[in-house]
Amino acid sequence: MSAPNIETIVSLAKRRGFVYPSSEIYGGLGSAWDYGPMGIELYNNVKQAWWRWMVYERDDIEGIDSSIILNRLVWKYSGHEETFSDPLVDCKECNSRFRADKLDPGYGRTEEFSEGMTLTSLVFHRESIKCPNCGKSNWAGPRPFNLMFRTHVGATAEIDADLGEYDPSSLVYLRPETAQGIFINFLNVLNTSRRKLPFGVAQVGKSFRNEVTPGNFIFRTREFEQMEMEYFVKPGEDEAAHQEWIDACHQWFQSIGVSSANLRLYEQPKEELAHYAKRTVDIQYRFFPEREEDERQWDELMGVANRTDFDLKTHSKKPEDAEGKRINPDSTDDLSYFDEATKQRFYPYVIEPAAGVNRTVLALLMDAYSEKTNDKGETRVILKLHHSMAPIKVAVLPLAKNKPEIVGMAKAIKRSLQPVMRAVYDDTGGIGKLYARQDEIGTPFCVTVDHQSLEDEAVTVRDRDTWEQERVKVADLSTYLRQRFVSDV
Ligand code: GAP
Repeated sequence: MSAPNIETIVSLAKRRGFVYPSSEIYGGLGSAWDYGPMGIELYNNVKQAWWRWMVYERDDIEGIDSSIILNRLVWKYSGHEETFSDPLVDCKECNSRFRADKLDPGYGRTEEFSEGMTLTSLVFHRESIKCPNCGKSNWAGPRPFNLMFRTHVGATAEIDADLGEYDPSSLVYLRPETAQGIFINFLNVLNTSRRKLPFGVAQVGKSFRNEVTPGNFIFRTREFEQMEMEYFVKPGEDEAAHQEWIDACHQWFQSIGVSSANLRLYEQPKEELAHYAKRTVDIQYRFFPEREEDERQWDELMGVANRTDFDLKTHSKKPEDAEGKRINPDSTDDLSYFDEATKQRFYPYVIEPAAGVNRTVLALLMDAYSEKTNDKGETRVILKLHHSMAPIKVAVLPLAKNKPEIVGMAKAIKRSLQPVMRAVYDDTGGIGKLYARQDEIGTPFCVTVDHQSLEDEAVTVRDRDTWEQERVKVADLSTYLRQRFVSDV
């Protein structure tokens, strides 16, 4: 079983301290969410698992952490200033604003070749598409809307009294992806780590996009976190490396507990490909199981792109266009690679697995959601998270909180487990309530200390998924639990 819809997760997330609407006491801020005590543990578990898998368990990946605010020229040459936009349409009747491609299933770009030029036009079916707000079909647009957040830096960041606007030289953007921070550091990493192709550079960090239609909880927000890796390969070896990364990433999501039935690979058709991509395969999750049409149930969790040599070339000072003019007159370096074996210099191709932390958290919560009915006929929620993802690995519960010996023993057990696994002590309710609370946050094991424990130095260990109980000696508890965890926690 998994969650029937995202709404089910929104209420569980708030009730159990995973995710809260942001700025709620001031009326909230559309599409901004804060991670609570359980949410941040799950969030960190995702990032740590990805970093361990991507960087530590391989021998060909380095990690970096680049700035969120980069020189504006980075975004000029990456193409973001010109092309990182969504097509907007405005309803002239009620002034509502929408993304044309989301509103019109037939929306697309058409390309026509005429008189030696490729002409691109946008197709929006303005007569048949009705405004979801007022029902009329009176549209302005589509027009491109750039998704990058702008801000201003430095002493010139104030409105110029003469110009009546910001000094343009102070304009910068909040990064819309972490990838560019890796490309501009290609030579730094290559030289300091003495790498040879193929090798990759990984980065995890916040990105910002002024999304026109954010929504669906943490699925699409304006501030989010990405886990990206740029894998540099020799041209000609790119296609095989690309396929290997698609398969490896697909497998990784399953290794952290996402069921294969709710994952699928989506081959982007040519007309959807980004301008730099040779091939892109998305790993999609069934985020919308409630939708009738199967095709509409899926959306992107991760993209795995073959970005060709576009990135390193575009940030290099050397490449020239057909007329012999430098493509990038601002760069001070050449990001090509010299292959000692063949004595050839070239621009490496880039294979890019790019995932969202927030979407991974949402997929894990949806996938882990299940319900079970107890002896009294009451329905309980159980979050069957993979053990490595569970915010808390073990909860130690005293059967009687007014018995100092039992409380003391339970607290001592919690302290002894904490160095090896995330453990909590809880005595804020009756045992049934405490179990239910731990089930709802996905804690794999509860350890109960009772009167008998004072005599036989043993405790009851309860399994989240089966509700089965086993008596275990306190001296063996840490080893016992570690053996029962399905993988490293
Ligand atoms: N460097 C390539 C890149 O950024 P992308 O497909 O635009 O590719 C990668 O983003 C991943 O980042 C997506 O698969 C998604 O998981 C996440 N992501 C993108 N936009 C997002 C948003 N507005 N809110 C939450 N996650 C987002």
